[in-house]
Amino acid sequence: MRTTLQILALLLFAAALCLPLSLPRAVEGQGATEALTTDMDAKTDDLFNGFGAVGTPVDDCVAEPVPPTARGNGRFEDNKFIFSERENIEDGLGPTYNDVGCVECHQSVDVGAFSQSMEFRAGHITGGSFVDAPGGQLIHVRGTDSDVVEHISTAETVKAFRITLSTLGDGYIECLSNTALQNNVAAQPAAQRGVLTAVPVVEAGNQLRIGRFGWKAQHASLLSFAGDAYLNEMGITNKFDGFNGRSSDDPNAGTTENPASTAEGVLNVTFPSPFDPVADPEDDGGDVLAFADFMAATRAPGRQNPIPAAATRGDSLFTSVGCAVCHTRNFITAPAGTLINGGAFAVPAALGNKIIHPFSDFALHNIGTGDGIVQNAGQSTANQLRTPPLWGIRARNRLMHEGLNVTIFDAIQLHAGQATTARNNFNSLTAAQRNDLIAFVLSL
Ligand code: HEC
Ligand code: HEC
Repeated sequence: MRTTLQILALLLFAAALCLPLSLPRAVEGQGATEALTTDMDAKTDDLFNGFGAVGTPVDDCVAEPVPPTARGNGRFEDNKFIFSERENIEDGLGPTYNDVGCVECHQSVDVGAFSQSMEFRAGHITGGSFVDAPGGQLIHVRGTDSDVVEHISTAETVKAFRITLSTLGDGYIECLSNTALQNNVAAQPAAQRGVLTAVPVVEAGNQLRIGRFGWKAQHASLLSFAGDAYLNEMGITNKFDGFNGRSSDDPNAGTTENPASTAEGVLNVTFPSPFDPVADPEDDGGDVLAFADFMAATRAPGRQNPIPAAATRGDSLFTSVGCAVCHTRNFITAPAGTLINGGAFAVPAALGNKIIHPFSDFALHNIGTGDGIVQNAGQSTANQLRTPPLWGIRARNRLMHEGLNVTIFDAIQLHAGQATTARNNFNSLTAAQRNDLIAFVLSL
């Protein structure tokens, strides 16, 4: 017991020593200013962060929303409307899909944020390696025809649900340089150090950039994620969908639907199949640009206001027990004008040189909760997950990648592997301190 306490004291001391070392990174961006935040109250109109023109709320009985033709040249209110539209078969919905609109899953507490909706992935192990289920690892829950609703066999032994992630403030995350992420991870103690992924940017000829979006950090750009989501969540083909690893300049980009894995085998459902009446690509890319720019133009989730006294007391405990090693408090976005996303996007003034508090390192870790699924970063990532940003966490109550935990306490108890020390340190606190730390998390 005594040794445990001594080790804990030593660790806390070591953590305190490391603090000043990590501070210079926070002042790296000279003249950096705090990012704008939303109060996380849908009754207040405060989502827009100043990237692009704001426009006026769309009334489609009067005028249809106009999507951008390139990133940044549309209007926020039009983009928000397009993000909130429900698609139907004539728009290209399905044949297999998960829901009818981005906002159906990204909705609470405001457009773009969170919901209890989950997607489902499956595969099996062959020769020690994860292999996608026939027809693809994403098993859709819905279909436009009962003949294409997906049913996997018992051979698919690796199965995982993934709950929706909020997209609010994602524009700032997109504007973090690779170097900022690399420096942060390099400063972590070796035993807890995160792994950064290198993933293709679909709109930049598949050039690699450090991933930061999704439970596996499987995307680096919002345009690539939006194109992927339009196909994979809604069944709408587009040149940014990345299907079969195609970049947007591939002549075949956006021409293939997800095959349906049915009990009778894998069905090709791409137009002109009997299941799909709409020629591909089903979206010319305009909607995808609207989704990306809507998300990029949202403010970061702001702190609870006022901050309760317990949360203020828990603030320093979050760092001293070691949570902030992975749940990184501060980053500064790249300066305005910096070319990112393989050169396809220049950091806009509204998003450049901004101080953000995402409480994530955007790196993969094995904390013992791994789901066995491999996406685009290789077999070694099967049991790793990206540290989820904790900003805005007070507005959701389904936690961890499967969304099966409802208390912060339970989520912390699931931290093992690389997060064992932090969990043990948490459990060594007094009951009052543990409550304060939880109050701090719930003030984010
Ligand atoms: C069926 C529900 C559903 C629909 C519809 C949906 N999403 Fe998502 N979204 C999710 C889930 C689940 C995740 C986490 C997926 C993962 O990482 O495995 C996610 C993650 C994301 C992320 C990553 C956020 C982050 O910060 O890491 C972005 C961006 C995103 N979605 C954009 C979109 C867009 C754009 C649309 C519409 C084209 C859309 N989503 C439609 C459920 C949905
Ligand atoms: C070694 C890195 C690491 C450390 C240290 C760490 N976490 Fe995490 N945390 C993660 C990862 C990775 C996940 C996602 C795991 C999953 O979903 O299976 C996570 C998930 C969470 C979640 C759920 C978030 C959500 O959106 O569902 C909370 C809450 C959380 N951590 C709080 C803490 C607290 C509090 C501490 C300190 C006691 C801590 N973490 C320490 C890596 C870490």
